[in-house]
Amino acid sequence: MRMYDIIEKKRDGIELTKSEIDFVIKGYCNDEIPDYQMSALLMAIYLNKLTKSELLYLTDAMAKSAKILDLSDIKEEGKYIVDKHSTGGIGDKVTLIVLPIVASLGVTVFKMSGKGLGFTGGTADKLESIKGYDINISLEQACHQVQDIGVSLISQSPEIAIADKKLYALRDITATVESIDLIASSIMSKKLASGADKILIDVTVGNGAFMKNIEEARKLSETLVEIGNLAGKETKAIITDMNEPLGRNVGNALEIKEVISFLLSDETTLLSEEIKDLKDVVFEIAAYMIKMAGCGDDIEKNKIKIMEAITSRKAYDKFIELIKAQGGHIYEVYMDWIGMNLDMPVLEDNIKYMKEIHAQKEGYIVSIDSKKIGEALVCLGGGRQKKDDIIDYAVGFEFNKKVGDKVKEEETILKVLYNDKEKFDLAFDYIQDAIVIDNIDENLALALKSKPHVLDIIG
Ligand code: URA
Repeated sequence: MRMYDIIEKKRDGIELTKSEIDFVIKGYCNDEIPDYQMSALLMAIYLNKLTKSELLYLTDAMAKSAKILDLSDIKEEGKYIVDKHSTGGIGDKVTLIVLPIVASLGVTVFKMSGKGLGFTGGTADKLESIKGYDINISLEQACHQVQDIGVSLISQSPEIAIADKKLYALRDITATVESIDLIASSIMSKKLASGADKILIDVTVGNGAFMKNIEEARKLSETLVEIGNLAGKETKAIITDMNEPLGRNVGNALEIKEVISFLLSDETTLLSEEIKDLKDVVFEIAAYMIKMAGCGDDIEKNKIKIMEAITSRKAYDKFIELIKAQGGHIYEVYMDWIGMNLDMPVLEDNIKYMKEIHAQKEGYIVSIDSKKIGEALVCLGGGRQKKDDIIDYAVGFEFNKKVGDKVKEEETILKVLYNDKEKFDLAFDYIQDAIVIDNIDENLALALKSKPHVLDIIG
C-alpha cells in the first residue's frame, strides 16, 4: 500500500477502505508517513468529505491509536459513566459547574479536559488558575480519586488517542480544522477511547464557536450521535448558543470566581435574569447527564434536584472536595451572610490595572461578538496564540451589560482587568469592535434578551 495512491483516490472522490484508513493512521503515528503527505490527504478530506463508512473507520482507527480506558472498576452497579464534552466557546465554564453538581447527586464523573488554543478557552487552563491544582495526575490516580470522592477532572491524557493529538496540530496549520467530518472524528476518537458508557456533547453555535449556524451545528450533532451510537455508546448532543460570551466573566481566574458564585447562589439568584444564559445551559446539560447516568429519568425532576444541590451547598462542597483532592489550595473566609466560614480556592488573580469600557451612545446592546472577545483575551495574555505560550490567568473581562440591555451614554458595559498596558492597547480594538449599540425597538430588545440558549437536542 502506498500513501500516494490513497491521496490520489481521495482526491478523485473514491471511497477509502478500512485497511487503507488503518494504514494511514498507523503510518502517521509511527512517523512513517510525513506531514506533507498527511496534509494533502487532510485537504482532500476537507474538500471531498468522508462517506459514513470512512468516517467510522477513521474514528475507530484514531481511537485505537493508543490506550483504550477501562472504567469498569469505578462503575457502580446499575449506573453508567457519562462523559461530557463541549465543542468550545467564550466564557464557557459549564463543565466546572456541571461536574460538581452531578457528582453531588451520585453521578460518577471521570473527565478529561483540553487546554485552550486560539480564541477559545480551555477548561484545563481555568483549573490551573487555582493555585496548586494538579491537572496532570495520572489516569490511575484519577481513577482512585473517583472511587474516593466520585469525581476527577484532569487534563486530556497524552496516552489517549495519540493520532488525534498529531492530526489536530497538523490541521491547525493547514486550514483543515473546520471540517465537520474531521471535527467529529477528532472528538469521538477521544470520547470512545476514554472508557465512558455514554457521551453527552455540548455543540456550541455562533460567532464564538466552530459551527457558525444552526444547520451546521445540527449536521455536526447528527454526525457525533451517529458515530457514538454505532460504536455502542448512547450519545446525545445539546446545541447551545455561543453568539455572545456565556455568563458574565471571561478569563481563567475570573471564570472560576463566576463558578464559585454560581455554586453559592440562592433560589432567587438562580431564577433571576442576571444569570439566565449560564443557568439554562448548566441545568439542561446536568439534567441530561443525570438521566443518562441512570440517576433520574425525569428531566424536570432532575432540574429540581439540581436546584436543591446548589441551594443546599452540596454542589459547592463537592467542588471544594475535588479541588482539595487534586492539591488545590484553599483558604477559609468568614461569610457574613451565612454567619460561618467557607472554604475558598486560592486563585492566580493578581491584577495591576482595571479599565471600564463605556457606552459611546445611548441605546440597546444588540450584539457582543464572542470571537472578538476571545481574541481580545488572547491579546491580554489570557489565552494562547501558540501552544507553548504562558498564560496570565488573572486577566479578563467582567460584563455589567449583556445583549438586550439598555445603556445610557458613558454607562459601563464591561471592566477589563489587565497586567500590561501594551497588551491592553492590542486588545482594545477587538473589544470596541465586539460591542454594537443601536436604537432598536423596546420589544426587539426584550426578544434579544430572552432568546433561548439551549437551541436543540439531538439523539
Ligand atoms: N474539538 C476537538 O476535540 N476537535 C476538533 O477538531 C474541534 C474541537
